Amino acid sequence: MRDTISRDLLAWYDGHARVMPWRVGPKARAQGVRPNPYRVWLSEVMLQQTTVAAVTDYFNRFTARWPDVGALAAADDGDVMAQWAGLGYYARARNLLACARQVAELGGFPDDEAGLRALRGIGPYTAAAIAAIAYDHPAVVMDGNVERVMARVFAVQTPLPPAKPQLYDLATSQTPQTRAGDYAQAVMDLGATICTPRKPACGICPILHHCAARTAGIAADLPRKLAKPEKPTRTGQVWIIRRPSDGAFLLERRAEKGLLGGMLAFPSSGWDGSDVGPPAPLDFQTLGAARHTFTHFHLNLDVLASDAPCNPARGAFMPLNPADLPTLMRKAFALWGDDLPR
Ligand code: ADE
Repeated sequence: MRDTISRDLLAWYDGHARVMPWRVGPKARAQGVRPNPYRVWLSEVMLQQTTVAAVTDYFNRFTARWPDVGALAAADDGDVMAQWAGLGYYARARNLLACARQVAELGGFPDDEAGLRALRGIGPYTAAAIAAIAYDHPAVVMDGNVERVMARVFAVQTPLPPAKPQLYDLATSQTPQTRAGDYAQAVMDLGATICTPRKPACGICPILHHCAARTAGIAADLPRKLAKPEKPTRTGQVWIIRRPSDGAFLLERRAEKGLLGGMLAFPSSGWDGSDVGPPAPLDFQTLGAARHTFTHFHLNLDVLASDAPCNPARGAFMPLNPADLPTLMRKAFALWGDDLPR
């Protein structure tokens, strides 16, 4: 084998792989157990922008309810969006369903990166991750963990994002021809548990002796990053209206495009560029503010409430299950107390 990090990393992974519900551990893998592409795909989509700890319960609920891609393809859109509620980046859930339907139509998941890339919601990272983990293709899986490990092993001083092409070439040079799936997951585990963004645990690192940044004493300073622009703060209103006759709440399904797309939500205005007023001309009580941070801005929403009877211009009254709502709307609803006017 070339002198790469992969041999030491795989040896470490054999003894230290984290246990995850979608993962086939190194021992079982060596005995010929193959990962289920549906579970690999679902986990990788859920793990985009989200931690393993946050994903695990969602993954278990999804697979209990929709055990294979055919079952998910046949699911009701609203049920899938409700099950995704709280995970964020809701375009992922809409793409997930569209992708499941494409795969069901094809009769199964493609086993190569190009075929995977052609599916909805599957970009370079996810295609490479599925090709490597599910099919053991020596695909170059680039995520933040891999970037960090490469920047440190090779003491790359160029900041991100300009360093990306260089880090990709370095990652390519390290990707082994065999055990590609175990290798990809070994780098992820190393990045999550030892080669962490802050305070890396170099003392217990299995590839310490390959690491130029460690030798130079600069591991914790890498990768360097260009300063990000400050996020602006946007403001708006959200209206929580309860129908006194039966306690139902006014909800509407948000447009597919845009923030919280496809999700069930209380009617709101302003913050997303739309400029609509309340769904009914009521005397609202201000409950407080709901704060939430999105990718590109902070949001400060005034939460206005009423339980006066009305005929709203939009939305529909329905029983409220806060678990079906995105986090921002759960925060708004958390301000709804027992002290409202009746
Ligand atoms: N992050 C993204 N995919 C992962 C995986 N398969 N294992 C651990 N962490 C991950």
